[in-house]
Amino acid sequence: MIELINLSKVYGKSNTEVKALNEVNLEINEGEMIAIMGPSGSGKSTLLNILGGLDSPTSGEYLLKNRNVQNMKQKELSKVRNRTFGFVVQSFALIDHYSVFNNVMIPLDYTKLKKADKKEKIRLCLDKVGILDKSKNYPYELSGGQCQRVAIARALVNTPDVILADEPTGNLDKNNGEQIIEIFKELNKAKTTIIIITHDDEVASKCNRVIRLEDGRII
Ligand SMILES: Nc1ncnc2c1ncn2[C@@H]1O[C@H](COP(=O)(O)OP(=O)(O)O)[C@@H](O)[C@H]1O
Ligand SMILES: [Mg+2]
Repeated sequence: MIELINLSKVYGKSNTEVKALNEVNLEINEGEMIAIMGPSGSGKSTLLNILGGLDSPTSGEYLLKNRNVQNMKQKELSKVRNRTFGFVVQSFALIDHYSVFNNVMIPLDYTKLKKADKKEKIRLCLDKVGILDKSKNYPYELSGGQCQRVAIARALVNTPDVILADEPTGNLDKNNGEQIIEIFKELNKAKTTIIIITHDDEVASKCNRVIRLEDGRII
């Protein structure tokens, strides 16, 4: 489903140049659950952001469902991005003055669904992550683990093919972290491709493949 060919990402210019990704080749199939590991600064987030179309490579190719992402126009790219990917980050990135329900609504703002259908989708996703009873609460009223569930519900609401998670358990205690990974496992069973950046060997052991990065290269 995803193929990267000799893909590099360089930040900065000449003497301040940083090669965040260095000639990366990678193939990801539908239905995989993958851990990306590696030291801080090795290029993990850069890789995830490029996979999700949030950043673009300096050179090389990115094929998504056999289509070259670099050749897509901005408008098409954002459409593909919204349909294909759901993002989950370490800091949850919820809007504090929006209720749980309205946070999960955000990705649906750009769709043409009827209001009742939107409501139904949101309820389904909140239920899937076990937090439907908090739909009227605000993020500041929730624990970290609950906030991450809301963030996952938001990532799911457009029924993405792929979930991209950047250290999703990084701010959680062991128990909550395990529950979040269990949610990902369930989603993966239902055919969603999952790609998780993690420092935790236990999280990685739940995945069916581990990709290790070092200085922008896959080792
Ligand atoms: N926006 C940016 N501008 C300049 N350098 C960056 C930027 N983002 C990341 N880098 C650099 O690229 C390298 C890889 O960063 P990153 O992908 O965030 O690594 P990781 O997620 O593995 O910690 C690091 O050296 C980092 O400093
Ligand atoms: Mg990172």
